[in-house]
Amino acid sequence: MAQRADANTINQKFKGKDILSLDQFSPKDISLLFKKTDRMKIIAKNAKPSDLLKGKIVSLIFYEPSSRTFNSHAAAVKQLGGSTIEVLDPQHFSSVSKGETLEDTIRVFEAYSDMIIIRHPVVGTAKKSADAAEFVPIINAGDGIGEHPTQALLDLYTIHERFGKLNNLTGVMAGDMLNGRTVHSLLRGLSKYRGNKIYLLSPKELKLPLDLVDQLKEKIEMIEISSEKDLPTDAHFWYWTRVQKERFKSLKDYEKVKNTFILNNKLITKKANKKTIFMHPLPRVGEILEEVDLNPNALYLKNETRNGMYVRMALIALVLGK
Ligand code: NCD
Repeated sequence: MAQRADANTINQKFKGKDILSLDQFSPKDISLLFKKTDRMKIIAKNAKPSDLLKGKIVSLIFYEPSSRTFNSHAAAVKQLGGSTIEVLDPQHFSSVSKGETLEDTIRVFEAYSDMIIIRHPVVGTAKKSADAAEFVPIINAGDGIGEHPTQALLDLYTIHERFGKLNNLTGVMAGDMLNGRTVHSLLRGLSKYRGNKIYLLSPKELKLPLDLVDQLKEKIEMIEISSEKDLPTDAHFWYWTRVQKERFKSLKDYEKVKNTFILNNKLITKKANKKTIFMHPLPRVGEILEEVDLNPNALYLKNETRNGMYVRMALIALVLGK
């Protein structure tokens, strides 16, 4: 919402805030969200329906494909008794195809709903939407290679659920550090806590954007590596990612770097330890072999996916003042 663009930090008050970046959150805000998430987990598992969001309508407008983010937000609203307006691919199925501007689209959907959740291929679109909206909060469900705050929050929740802390952790992030918005948000999140050390494993072409390195380097130790040989053996988590094909100008360039690093049982035996958890925002397209799924510490299709809905239930409820 335009009038609040300058007061974006959460500061333990979620109500009415746009959720655009992990930079808005302090550890206290994250703890508050996690306490609410614990309660949401119980609500979701309870046979009795919740009516916390009864009468609330949330618009989901996704300009890019999505399985988990779209449907877990929709499920989150419905779990709490609210309803959704769902616009997938507005470039084809809405007035966007006739040339309507983003700003006009936002102004229209805020007339119909209490919140807008938006995914878009261009960095900064969530902020632009927030500036256009006068009355309702905006949640960023991924803006190009920018950020994906709700994914990072569910990733942090998953790490916290296993280790009971978010500080003094050693982690590995692997794959597309350049284009992976989930990595960008997760690093911003982890940088709020002391003593975290993250190894960033990627081909040289896909290193973290320099401006992000500059923004974070004082707050979190980041070690960029380009060979599996340099992986640490004491990591708490490995966060594998897909090389983001849709961000490449040429298919040839993508083919050159795709699946440079594959998570398989051999690599786990060599470099992981008994406590290391294996995470991935999904979808995976070959960079984690299916043999790894049987590992009890492979959380990507288990806790990490489920937590997505619980965290989003908590976040939507808090932002709607519930
Ligand atoms: C991610 C995304 O869209 O950024 N997916 C997701 O939301 N879980 C990761 C990806 O597409 O690789």
